Amino acid sequence: MCEGHDHKGVTLWFTGLPCSGKSAVADRAAEILKERGYHVERLDGDIVRQDLTRDLGFSKADRDENIRRVTFVSKLLTRNGVIVLTSFISPYIEVRDRARREIGSFLEVYAKCPLEICIQRDVKGMYKKAIAGQIKEFTGISDPYEEPVHPELILETDKETLEESTARVLAALKAGGYLE
Ligand code: ADX
Repeated sequence: MCEGHDHKGVTLWFTGLPCSGKSAVADRAAEILKERGYHVERLDGDIVRQDLTRDLGFSKADRDENIRRVTFVSKLLTRNGVIVLTSFISPYIEVRDRARREIGSFLEVYAKCPLEICIQRDVKGMYKKAIAGQIKEFTGISDPYEEPVHPELILETDKETLEESTARVLAALKAGGYLE
């Protein structure tokens, strides 16, 4: 890419169950885009919830507020030419659609993975606790996840390698006219 030129910003909105692979693919795609010289920002649930939304829990109202704030930040970055990669469960269609409308330049990426596989992965041991009833309102176990209806991209993270899924994200960006 040429230095000193403005580029079209976009938000890649990753959504999916806990342990569906959202963060891993978003991290890898961000790394490659940075290497290529693009302005990139990552907004990840686990990190944002320690800071911008540290006051929030996991009720529907709090999840919606979490996504509302993230949408606001993503909108500002996107309109300044940044490639934003968000990774939040964002379980509700209504707030994801609101993010799409607000941000405008928006690609919804569904990290699709069967619940059984997510439970097997259980990276942080939270499914185990949720199944034992030690964590309430846990997405996939005791709280809903509304699947995207028309996402721009569906990653089948149980069938594709990390590199394959990442390549598909980059291809979608290219097809959308967001890359040189
Ligand atoms: S969202 O629903 O508001 O989009 P977000 O992606 O920010 O969720 O946060 C999800 C992370 O919070 C998970 O990776 C997990 O580590 C942690 N977490 C803690 N409690 C819950 C819960 N009840 N449901 C889902 N995730 C939870």
